[in-house]
Amino acid sequence: MGDEITRDFRGETIIFVGVLKGAAIFLSDLARRVELDATFDFIGVSSYGNRPSPSQELLSGWDSTGEVRLTKDVDQSMRDRNVIMVEDILDTGLTMTYLRKIIQAHQPRALKIAALLDKPSRRKQAIEADYVGFKIPDEFVVGYGLDYAERYRNLPDICVIPRN
Ligand code: IMP
Repeated sequence: MGDEITRDFRGETIIFVGVLKGAAIFLSDLARRVELDATFDFIGVSSYGNRPSPSQELLSGWDSTGEVRLTKDVDQSMRDRNVIMVEDILDTGLTMTYLRKIIQAHQPRALKIAALLDKPSRRKQAIEADYVGFKIPDEFVVGYGLDYAERYRNLPDICVIPRN
């Protein structure tokens, strides 16, 4: 993925915008494989007080209403810049659809999405990442930045939590 981004933006500068907190580890590995003049920014979201209990989230995912709230905006203008939004996992697509609108309002020169993981079977919004690490089935995964009730983000591997 790093090579692809390097090729696609050769001769240009880019901003990686990581989605907190899950994308932090992926962003740090991805950015080190991109041979371009790059800067970092971060954006944060949380669900609107309707995040299900961890066990419910494990069973049916986090998509009750898709209402997300910005907890941290980017620190700089994205106007006329090449922006690569970095996300841990594209699931229903609700979060990325919301965030893409926010960044689009800055009028960037280019806006691309890089997702480590993609669960296409769960999609509720028609949104696709431009760069995808791995397509995975509908399993709940943790590790390498991904959490279950804030835990397991520091596992070095991506692991499936069994639902039964
Ligand atoms: P979406 O809005 O449904 O696409 O969900 C995106 C967010 O849900 C991700 O950034 C993760 O924080 C969370 N998420 C979705 N699936 C998983 C999973 O399997 N493990 C951990 N978090 C997940």
